Amino acid sequence: MGLTRVPGLLFGGDYNPEQWPETVWDEDVRLMAEAGVNIVTVAVFSWSRLEPAPGVHDFGWLDRILDLLHAHGIAADLATATATPPPWLVRAHPDVQPVDAAGTRLEFGSRQGYCPSSPVFRDGSVRLARAMAERYRNHPALAMWHIGNEYGDHTVECFCEESARHFRRWLEDRYGTLDGLNSAWGTSCWGQHYTAWTQISPPRKAPGPVNPAQVLDWRRFSSDALLACFEAERAVLKDVTPDVPVTTNFMSLLHHLDYWKWADAEDFVSDDAYPDPADPAAHVKAALSYDLMRSLKRQPWLLLESAPGAVSWREVNVPKEQGVMRLHSLQALAHGSDGVMFFQWRQARYGPEKFHSAMLPHGGTDTRQWRETLALGADVRRLAEVAGTTTRAEVALVMDWDSWWGLEAPESLPSNRLRLHALLMSWYAPLHARGIDVDLAPPGRDLSSYKVVIVPNLYLCTAEQAANLASFTGRLVVGPFSGVVDAADQVHDGGAPGPLRPLLGVRSEEPWPIPDGRTQELVAHDGTRLVARTWSEWLEVDDAQVLARYRGGPLDGRPAVTRRGAATYLSCVPDDLTPVLDEVLGDAGITAPVLPEGVEACRRGDFLFLLNHGAAEATVPLPAAGTDLLTGRRLHGSVALAPRDAVVLKYRVS
Ligand code: GLA
Repeated sequence: MGLTRVPGLLFGGDYNPEQWPETVWDEDVRLMAEAGVNIVTVAVFSWSRLEPAPGVHDFGWLDRILDLLHAHGIAADLATATATPPPWLVRAHPDVQPVDAAGTRLEFGSRQGYCPSSPVFRDGSVRLARAMAERYRNHPALAMWHIGNEYGDHTVECFCEESARHFRRWLEDRYGTLDGLNSAWGTSCWGQHYTAWTQISPPRKAPGPVNPAQVLDWRRFSSDALLACFEAERAVLKDVTPDVPVTTNFMSLLHHLDYWKWADAEDFVSDDAYPDPADPAAHVKAALSYDLMRSLKRQPWLLLESAPGAVSWREVNVPKEQGVMRLHSLQALAHGSDGVMFFQWRQARYGPEKFHSAMLPHGGTDTRQWRETLALGADVRRLAEVAGTTTRAEVALVMDWDSWWGLEAPESLPSNRLRLHALLMSWYAPLHARGIDVDLAPPGRDLSSYKVVIVPNLYLCTAEQAANLASFTGRLVVGPFSGVVDAADQVHDGGAPGPLRPLLGVRSEEPWPIPDGRTQELVAHDGTRLVARTWSEWLEVDDAQVLARYRGGPLDGRPAVTRRGAATYLSCVPDDLTPVLDEVLGDAGITAPVLPEGVEACRRGDFLFLLNHGAAEATVPLPAAGTDLLTGRRLHGSVALAPRDAVVLKYRVS
């Protein structure tokens, strides 16, 4: 069973017919059918066209395009059209527009110009969502709902008075009493003791650093405030069309929204991914975020947007070289996507995205881009049986948004150089280089299906989360600066690693950040020398074996890496984690040699995806004989992969 009622893998993109005269639509649907497009996203930014005046609807054009799509066998990912409130609404209610931390109300003229807490925005968007659902509930093209668009893209938070009121209500729900809030926020520091809820504001621009507990709650609140917008629309869609799946397009590994929480509110996860073609490590970063998408609900997800070539929002927008669109699309499928979709179908002639690539470019059908679109459509059809299959990873990386927000709070930490994305990548990249399938997991999830669990960092760690990690019986690795604070960002009694201390058998007495440009050497018990940057710690051992010690510098001779039972603790991040990984994977019985440079290997159901992101041909050994779905070739032994080529091996028929 696929994500929607459309069989096989989804293939298509954002389609903005309202930007084109209707005379172009016939050509659009004809070319879509030629390319094998089976779904398009429509009406994402159409509020001002669908409701040109308060309560006055103009659905005629949308009726016509949905009918036309359906007549050509193309389904609709129908947006609720609420991503940009219309000018009439904003002019009648200027307080719909968001306010930044310095108090400036942002102007109309872009998109996503709304305060997430605005009752006017919420009422208006819910009313439009209901009108859309009632009008199209029985339309045969309707395959899924797309609420909003990329929540948190331009508008992450709003600092207006309405948001302040909403924030206070949220805080009252969380803490019940002002005493509770004063205690959780540690307001005895810097004279911030509150005596009335009305004294509390969002963390607006202040003379100096703002209370980090206030900032942490603000991050939680801001994620929840946007989620409430999504949920309000979802409720009406579920009321009117209970059987139509609902999603919203995520933005990969996004700092601002707690996607563990958001994913629970969706029927399936979808993602927009824009790996930078100019970045040689882009495919590894993309793989990490795709694995997150697959892990959010532990189900197939959907690549709802990607770029066929260049984007238009980087400083320098490098196109994708020949074959890269295909390779990147196959990569998303390898990591669990049940489709490949793009922004956008037809390249725009006007607006900020007129130079953004599209499946059908300005140059029309006699173009390299169009030929690649056609070829990819054919490949996607060849892979139809991959839809719905899942990945059984043996290794998990634990990450959590509360902890991420705490770790990257402004101006209150021993160093602001410990960044979660980099920490995740330091573990993910060597696992990816060995073709090991990796899940991501929140710290409270049942981890029993994994052999290895790696916690690159868990700065904020509750007693419950620590107990969950302690109950894991496989091989566990915990990275530096973990178990430092509780849910209120208050340092655990006795310091780090707080509730993880019995499990790890160490005490991290003092953080010892390494100045930029300097390094700290460490030596393992077998003589292996490693180099760490950014971070180290003065570690005391209660009950653990020392696997490596610092050499030279202020921590000379002190423990750096320890092990207690099946749990390893690293008080720094060595540049090369291979020796640690070798030991951990070896203990867990996972053997996976490093693949040729640039080659990626992923498993889904009975399929092995091999992708060559490198610049040279690579020969890759196969685990078993099988058939390449892309070419129909029978393969055994090993396969030679040209640069940017791929194989999807069906190697075990269940
Ligand atoms: C995002 C948005 C799209 C479009 C693309 C361009 O994914 O959702 O509307 O702006 O970026 O890359």
